[in-house]
Amino acid sequence: MLIHIPNVLSPEEVRYFRDRLEAAEWTDGRVTAGEQSAKAKLNLQIPQDSPECRELGEIVLRALGRNPTFNSAALPLRVYPPLFNRYDTGMHFDAHVDNAIRPIPGAGMRIRTDVSSTLFLTGPDEYEGGELVIQDTYGIQSVKLPAGDMVLYPSTSLHSVNRITSGSRWASFFWSQSMVRDDTKRRLLYDFDCSIIETRKALPDSHPAVLGLTSTYHNLLRQWAEL
Ligand code: NI
Repeated sequence: MLIHIPNVLSPEEVRYFRDRLEAAEWTDGRVTAGEQSAKAKLNLQIPQDSPECRELGEIVLRALGRNPTFNSAALPLRVYPPLFNRYDTGMHFDAHVDNAIRPIPGAGMRIRTDVSSTLFLTGPDEYEGGELVIQDTYGIQSVKLPAGDMVLYPSTSLHSVNRITSGSRWASFFWSQSMVRDDTKRRLLYDFDCSIIETRKALPDSHPAVLGLTSTYHNLLRQWAEL
């Protein structure tokens, strides 16, 4: 499933990110690509160990921590430290699937990539082309969001970034290992949680329907979660 999460970063935060990234060192994006995807990839990234990457990555992680939609949809166990990329005119990333397992630099651990996230840092009016194209179970989806908005999609999806024909597209991207590996189960839990939220708007928390639905949600998560 694809989920659009608006306003993960405020306009002020986006402005701050843009200023910091403007001054950062940009290098060839193929450093984090696998063997097949390196051939398909032409973009720029800031080094993972740069002060900008660390500082801005921390701000993204804090923003995720306070975002109920991200937590409900991704059910994250571990989140990879966010990376930052940029596609200038002529740059693109052809169809590929991201590596399944990624070592977390300096942490001595690896994560399984279950959920991919792209957080847009430039608005749709700042570049032409550059759509994130995702081959989902429901067909091909083309995504281009306002600055500060984020899309989540299953890491099992084949995806690409269309060639930029003018302007520049900046984004943060990262992966999460979910407590629930299977996308269909995650979708059911997300829909279930959304229904509970709607029910709680209509009924008091002490109502047996709210109590029953909430209990069943947690018991289902207990069945499916791997920690
Ligand atoms: Ni990718």
